[in-house]
Amino acid sequence: KRPAGAPDATLARPVTKVGVVGAGLMAGQFALLFARQLKVPVVLTDIDAARVDKGVGYVHGEVDKLLAKGRISPDAANRTKSLVTGSVTKDAFADADFVIEAVFEELEVKKQVFAEVEAVVSPECILATNTSSLSVTAMAEGLEHPERLVGFHFFNPVALMPLLEIVRAPKTGDAVLATAFATARALRKTAVLVKDAPAFVVNRVLLRLMGEVFRAFDEGTDAHTADNALRPLGLPMTPFTLLAMVGLPVAQHVTESMHAAFGDRIAVSANLQALIDAGKKGLWEKAEDGSRHIPADTLALLS
Ligand code: 3HC
Repeated sequence: KRPAGAPDATLARPVTKVGVVGAGLMAGQFALLFARQLKVPVVLTDIDAARVDKGVGYVHGEVDKLLAKGRISPDAANRTKSLVTGSVTKDAFADADFVIEAVFEELEVKKQVFAEVEAVVSPECILATNTSSLSVTAMAEGLEHPERLVGFHFFNPVALMPLLEIVRAPKTGDAVLATAFATARALRKTAVLVKDAPAFVVNRVLLRLMGEVFRAFDEGTDAHTADNALRPLGLPMTPFTLLAMVGLPVAQHVTESMHAAFGDRIAVSANLQALIDAGKKGLWEKAEDGSRHIPADTLALLS
């Protein structure tokens, strides 16, 4: 069955080589997923060799963990590892037909990255952005071929979360969109088509919920209570555990873009900013016996 809003699948083009820009945690997760599921070469690029090596090393480490758990066959493990390579220059994308970026969440940075990619790839090569808060339409501006850009928004942890938001910008081409859906299917993700609106759909709802937790904080509810209040709903993680996994700065970026679009419907939290400014990665820390607590210095940051 064709997913709602997806164009005719016969328009989809084959993906035979993938480029990933950035070698951070998201990029490493993408490289692993694409190599494992599409079984095509994947090249990771970043600004220096150390980052590239770290990204490729992450993929190898994750494959080793899957192998140790018996979740992947030795053949598939070897194949996946050998499919993922790294490069410090984007020239390695010359014969790629699908390039996804996972770089810093800043419009100008992403536009610059895509301009550099466009200079080396073929006119048919699809460009995908994993942005969670920026306008895909604005990102397409300045591209030589704006029809090739599509939003491909994954959720953390990429290997486990089944959903993928596919974002169509006004100029996104039908063949590009059809290829995006076919690729999502090959990656074994459930793809939904969303409009290019601030925070798309999932984060818009999720961050609103999180925003209320912060608001409860800001209004004097203590951190333990605020973070545990949603447990009875059966959510797999408390809001702050989720925030720690997503990364506090990323969460704050999404919140800010939603605040700009929706005003008072979403709170930009002084408490969250205080944690970020203090270099905190999250709220909770684990004790040696596995129990969780909020350290006193973290509590002292919260007003
Ligand atoms: N990467 C890879 N594997 C992971 C992992 C990770 N980050 N985290 C956990 N796993 C594996 C574990 O190793 C374990 O594997 P095993 O069964 O082989 O031992 C398995 O997943 C289950 O782990 P746990 O039993 O520790 O944990 P859970 O049962 O709680 O499942 C979870 C983990 C699927 C991550 C679940 O907690 C969950 O669904 N959490 C909510 C995640 C969520 O909401 N993500 C969306 C965030 S928003 C976002 O990303 C958008 C962005 O734009 C900001």
